[in-house]
Amino acid sequence: MLKLIDMEPTTSPKKLQFSPAGQAEIKRLFTHYPEDRSKSAMLPILHIAQAEFGGWVSPEVQDLVAETLNIKPIEVYEVASFYTMYNLKPVGKHVLEVCRTGPCMLRGSDELTEHLERITGAKMGETSPDGVFTLKEVECLAACGFAPIVQVREKYYEQLHTPEAVDAMLNELRNLVHRPILSWEENGLPNSVQDN
Ligand code: FES
Repeated sequence: MLKLIDMEPTTSPKKLQFSPAGQAEIKRLFTHYPEDRSKSAMLPILHIAQAEFGGWVSPEVQDLVAETLNIKPIEVYEVASFYTMYNLKPVGKHVLEVCRTGPCMLRGSDELTEHLERITGAKMGETSPDGVFTLKEVECLAACGFAPIVQVREKYYEQLHTPEAVDAMLNELRNLVHRPILSWEENGLPNSVQDN
């Protein structure tokens, strides 16, 4: 038999919401598509969600995206798990997307990866113990002529042939107090992003 205390109502978790700036951007995005095709805005809305909720899209965040688009959550899960640009687990302050496809491999992405792992203390797919860097393996970033490449958000770090070039990239990122701000965020960032 249940004890009385087990039957007491629990406090329901706070419902996730996009920031006012995020909501305004989503509203603007919807104007790009016919009303019955608003699902097409899923990719940019996932980007907004990822930026606003700590750099990754948890199942709850994906549910919020589904609710925003008025579609089934499974439709968002399928897309978010397909594209490597969406993080499905917590990440560090900077996600280093390391291209490991053929041309980058021929130009030294193995050595680049080894150096990154040694300096950050994180294996590929992991986050460094200090929480600053997450290493992520990705497919061709469409900049093969400048291989080997690492992408960090909107920026490409190119021709990372030498340990010195990799160290310079890591130092630049370590010294960034705030990550770069996206254009739609200029009118106000939610606290979760400002604190990153
Ligand atoms: S193979 Fe790395 S950018 Fe194309």
